[in-house]
Amino acid sequence: MAQSNGMSDEVYYPSEQILAQANIADYDAIHQSMLRDPAGCWDQIAREEFEWFEPWKTTLDDSNPPFYQWFVGGKVNIVHNALDRHARTWRRNKLALVWEGENYDQRSYSYQQLHREVSRFASVLRAMGVRKGDRVTIYMGRIPELIIAMLACAKIGAVHSVVYGGFSVEALHERIEDSESRVAITSDGAWLRGNVVPLKDIMDEALQRAPTIQTLIVVKRTGQDVHMEPGRDFWYHDLMNLPIADAHIETEVMDAEDPLFLLYTSGTTGKPKAILHTHGGYMVGVATTLKWVFDIKEEDTWWCAADPGWITGHSYIVYAPLLLGTTSVIYEGAPNHPFPDRWWDIVERHGVTVLYTAPTAIRGLMRFGDAWPNRHDLSSLRLLGSVGEPINPEAWRWYHRVIGQGRCPIMDTWWQTETAHFMITPLPVTPLKPGSATKPFPGVQIDIVDEDGSPVGPNEEGYLVIKSPWPGMMRTIYRDAERYVNQYWSRFPGMYMTGDSARRDEDGYIWVIGRVDDVIKVSGYRLGTAEVESALVSHSAVVEAAVIGVPDEVRGNIIRAYCILATGYEPSAHLVEVLRDHVGHEVGPIAKPSSIEFVDSLPKTRSGKIMRRVLKARALGQDEGDLSTLEA
Ligand code: WT7
Repeated sequence: MAQSNGMSDEVYYPSEQILAQANIADYDAIHQSMLRDPAGCWDQIAREEFEWFEPWKTTLDDSNPPFYQWFVGGKVNIVHNALDRHARTWRRNKLALVWEGENYDQRSYSYQQLHREVSRFASVLRAMGVRKGDRVTIYMGRIPELIIAMLACAKIGAVHSVVYGGFSVEALHERIEDSESRVAITSDGAWLRGNVVPLKDIMDEALQRAPTIQTLIVVKRTGQDVHMEPGRDFWYHDLMNLPIADAHIETEVMDAEDPLFLLYTSGTTGKPKAILHTHGGYMVGVATTLKWVFDIKEEDTWWCAADPGWITGHSYIVYAPLLLGTTSVIYEGAPNHPFPDRWWDIVERHGVTVLYTAPTAIRGLMRFGDAWPNRHDLSSLRLLGSVGEPINPEAWRWYHRVIGQGRCPIMDTWWQTETAHFMITPLPVTPLKPGSATKPFPGVQIDIVDEDGSPVGPNEEGYLVIKSPWPGMMRTIYRDAERYVNQYWSRFPGMYMTGDSARRDEDGYIWVIGRVDDVIKVSGYRLGTAEVESALVSHSAVVEAAVIGVPDEVRGNIIRAYCILATGYEPSAHLVEVLRDHVGHEVGPIAKPSSIEFVDSLPKTRSGKIMRRVLKARALGQDEGDLSTLEA
């Protein structure tokens, strides 16, 4: 693989003030002690920071790799730790959630109020027949009820499967069907850029394809007329006004290894897979990483500007901040609505102290110039974060200089749906190099290896792997343990394969380069080539399709599609629009190809696999590489 040199001479050191307040003062010391005795260290953290109904017998069971288990035999519920225990102390009056609608509606919940709402909705779900272990699909915009629904499921031991509100009919259908949910929760619509996204209509269409749903609970947000199917559909507010909405329901006692949620993500081939996370290890991992990396203090106002429908939102909007008893801001709408300073306005008005977002959002807002952030008082900010894709140094410097006013270190956190929490990341005390996620989180064994699994030298590119288990690691792919083993653990025996390539510089700093598989990161969103291709061929005009990601200045990557048309169809600009809309309708607006080219053939191997790498090289005007397996 290619050698490259980073910008490793540009280093930003932490200020005296940052050093003085850091939760973790000495990275090397804690990293070394956690490497020496990972189970012992996590055992101590789990005991000190959380309440367990019963202690565990084995901290880490590694007798059956790669099916690792943590806190085995322990009894716990993540909601007990995220809500119940805070509602018993002075924190009951502390704000848990501060929500702002795109139309400036405001709602906030203290820990006491959130605890009550979650308990009442948990009791409704139970009355509607939801039991421990049942899967519940949640499909909503960014409103407090989305979080209430997730926590209510977890409280009664049901397994939530949140489908991002930007997904559409087929993506939703597939996820409902695979999870075999009988109950789903949605809203009439979601506000986005002043328009209504008709979530209930999309759900209705998905349910025509997935008849497993018997009960659909609908939150009223946008207020337009929606179809309510008698006997199946119920308004959330009606149910919450019935005596079945009991605030005094007990939290279910769970095994540490019981499933907490499924979250579908795109992999190398085929349909999205359901990543499974558990109550115990996930809880310990997400809370500890947030506390150490973002230095969370009692008086912080944390804003993770992601969507709860992705892992970033699950871990760092919903679970970790509540576990730490933090005040968290959520905003419903678009960053530039009604003006490009909406985010900076929110930071100022709510006094946000730590902001966590994605490079694509930073680049998007940077385009509008410095005047928009400069007209706001951003002095409450003390730390910034980035996630989702490599951040280019130019965006990093703008974020640091204009938003952080040179005062706020940027935590560039590398992790995945599968890892559940930060794995490569600075701590506030770490000297920073723009564009590098820096070092492994304490105790994490990262390596970069070649085709044979041997570590590569400094500055050489290779496969990014993880060599030891961690508490929040995925446990399996739901109902497909074989795929879990094959996809993550067979390429390099004993190592977890991330699917990313990276290099490490002379100082041990890790520079993540990007995916080496068929995953495309569009605006930080993870999409599989297979999902977009199957949407294209589900249209009668297309017999075969291949998609690739090509670099884009703001979005990181954009999708380019190549289609072979069915007989009777002619290439036209109109057909391009029809197909783009079709993908939007089936998968979601984020999956729409930016361009579609009609071709007579696609490069394939002799065994018939499409060589996307050849298409990509052609699109970028690069050398097509080894073509020896190309079909003649
Ligand atoms: C993929 C995982 C992590 C939560 C959101 C994304 C890319 C993520 C970084 C980063 C470079 C990054 C990787 C990874 N990625 N963070 N800081 N620097 N690349 O979770 O949707 O499961 O995507 O996102 O390619 O494998 P995800």
